[in-house]
Amino acid sequence: MQAELMQTAPKTTDLPAIQLQHVGVTFGDVVAIQNLSFAVERGEIVSFLGRTGAGKSTALNLIMGNLAPTRGEVRVMGFDPKAEFQQLRRVIAVGFQTDRLMPWRTALENVELGLQILHEEKTATRKKATEWLARVGLERAANLYPHELSGGMRQRVSLARALAIDPEILLLDECFSQLDHVTSQVLRADISRLIRELRKTCLFVTHRIDDAIEMADRILVFGAPAKLLLEHRPTEADRNDPAAFKVLHDLIAEKLGIVE
Ligand SMILES: Nc1ncnc2c1ncn2[C@@H]1O[C@H](COP(=O)(O)OP(=O)(O)OP(=O)(O)O)[C@@H](O)[C@H]1O
Ligand SMILES: [Mg+2]
Repeated sequence: MQAELMQTAPKTTDLPAIQLQHVGVTFGDVVAIQNLSFAVERGEIVSFLGRTGAGKSTALNLIMGNLAPTRGEVRVMGFDPKAEFQQLRRVIAVGFQTDRLMPWRTALENVELGLQILHEEKTATRKKATEWLARVGLERAANLYPHELSGGMRQRVSLARALAIDPEILLLDECFSQLDHVTSQVLRADISRLIRELRKTCLFVTHRIDDAIEMADRILVFGAPAKLLLEHRPTEADRNDPAAFKVLHDLIAEKLGIVE
């Protein structure tokens, strides 16, 4: 009975949400990723920091199943995201650098999009989208079109759309970096609170050190081509004590080779 139960149980129960093992990716002569291994546990928020060209977006493309590795293995909830993409339908949602809203849809209709693609029933779709707009603080903007919203509001709509499908994993690729510092900070705080409350797993790609320290349970710092330079779990002091924050910030900057 035990064996039978184990056989029929989904692959997803006790595995990390995301796991890369000895992954390499080459595009012709370009080595985008060289021997990269890391895991993200369920419910964990991991910031993935690296300079431009370090292979961050390539790593996200592997996890989304857009790309197969040249070498090594990628697993998402135990599945191969490229070959077994059907198993990961509604498991992963992505927030991009630009909001990718449809200009002819209102804020509410944009949030409904993912649910409609998943063929959710119309009334339930409207209800979930309305709730999600409220969660990101935009209940009064439901009927506005993207051109009537500020950049920060648009990114909120975009993240509400990603989260409305109730994914287990949220991948964020530089999704706060086009906003001014204050807008970005407020949105980041709101989103990290929501994903912690809902116990989502989140991999957050950024090149901004402050963003990474403020958001993450764990920071991974990469140098090109996706070589792990530093792994750190920010403490409360790292986040809240300006002196500790600066020490950590400077250490990461040094690893990244940034002189400020
Ligand atoms: N489809 C592709 N074809 C050829 N080369 C590619 C392709 N995608 C990425 N690369 C190369 O792989 C390397 C890593 O690119 P990637 O986009 O993953 O970097 P990144 O860390 O996301 O950079 P950024 O911070 O600028 O977004 C770069 O040298 C890039 O030119
Ligand atoms: Mg990128």
